[in-house]
Amino acid sequence: MYCANDKRYEQMKYNRCGASGLTLPAISLGMWYGFGSADSYDNMVSMATTAFDLGITHFDLANNYGPHPGAAEESFGRILKGVLGAYRDELIISTKAGYTMWPGPYGDWGSRKYLLSSLDQSLKRMGLEYVDIFYSHRPDPKTPLEETMGALASAVKQGKALYAGISNYSAGDTKKVSDILRTLGVPCLVHQPCYNMLNRGIENGLLDVLGQEGMGCVVFSPLAQGLLTDRYLKGIPEDSRAQRKGSFLRPDSITPELTEKIKKLNEIAAGRGQSLSQMAIAWILRGGRVTSVLAGASRPDQIRQNAGALANTEFSDEELLAIDSVLKL
Ligand SMILES: NC(=O)c1ccc[n+]([C@@H]2O[C@H](COP(=O)([O-])OP(=O)(O)OC[C@H]3O[C@@H](n4cnc5c(N)ncnc54)[C@H](OP(=O)(O)O)[C@@H]3O)[C@@H](O)[C@H]2O)c1
Repeated sequence: MYCANDKRYEQMKYNRCGASGLTLPAISLGMWYGFGSADSYDNMVSMATTAFDLGITHFDLANNYGPHPGAAEESFGRILKGVLGAYRDELIISTKAGYTMWPGPYGDWGSRKYLLSSLDQSLKRMGLEYVDIFYSHRPDPKTPLEETMGALASAVKQGKALYAGISNYSAGDTKKVSDILRTLGVPCLVHQPCYNMLNRGIENGLLDVLGQEGMGCVVFSPLAQGLLTDRYLKGIPEDSRAQRKGSFLRPDSITPELTEKIKKLNEIAAGRGQSLSQMAIAWILRGGRVTSVLAGASRPDQIRQNAGALANTEFSDEELLAIDSVLKL
């Protein structure tokens, strides 16, 4: 029987999520990849328990994570039932709805019909009575924001989610969302955007809105799906995400120019006594504007290594300048 490391809360840092009462670990575990129906269950359990033993209390899912869509929630349900369930009150479990999930007009985007049916399905797959955070996974240009946000607020009021969040919304829409949800008595807890050294879009307004609105920021793909690690320094390994069938990280996007850039970043990381993945995570946490870095992994060792990033999240001006100059190449 699994018994969690009793020192798990001594090593992780917990950051307040915006102006809410909730704190989240500086590093969370993403379950987009590695928890599908064809993945090894033993490895999933090992990743989930390794994370929790390191104080990683936040596990991020979505209705469509798999493959097949729904499989990651089913896998996590099995892990909860067999291993982690005794610790439910120590876990922050999030899920989302917004991308294609089932056929027909009600299995996608942002209608009230889709979001609330999807949440019921997610709860069933995970064997849960509630999730901690329920996200609208993406904005729906054809559905009024009021309807999508009304569905999130209903989920909270029905006790099926404790908090509401949004993902992939622009700075302007985020401000509107914040106003609508506050009016509905369910303040928006958190935004989940993409942010990493190769994608700095949120620095152009979104981070400011989140600060002004008292919303947390949990960032996804902090390692640019593995590019900001030592994975691709010497080619494209057989067992890497870029080689997975149907992966969003395409081998042809790993150009010689990009590899050069990554090698230079790797040298800067080595100078700091860190791996590149550790520096990439530390860099996101610099300045304290990001609540949690939502990293994915394919094996427990990667989770251990990434948690080691917290040993050094300070950057000198020279290091930041050196990183900026590589990123501008
Ligand atoms: N809201 C959204 O729209 C959205 C979109 C994307 C993701 N997400 C969430 O964000 C989470 C993280 O995104 P992501 O999976 O793209 O994350 P990522 O953290 O940028 O990349 C994870 C990949 O990097 C590699 N890796 C991780 N640690 C490593 C290490 N120490 N050394 C070497 N390689 C390492 C692994 O690749 P290999 O598999 O090659 O080993 C791993 O699968 C997702 O799981 C999901 O929960 C949300």
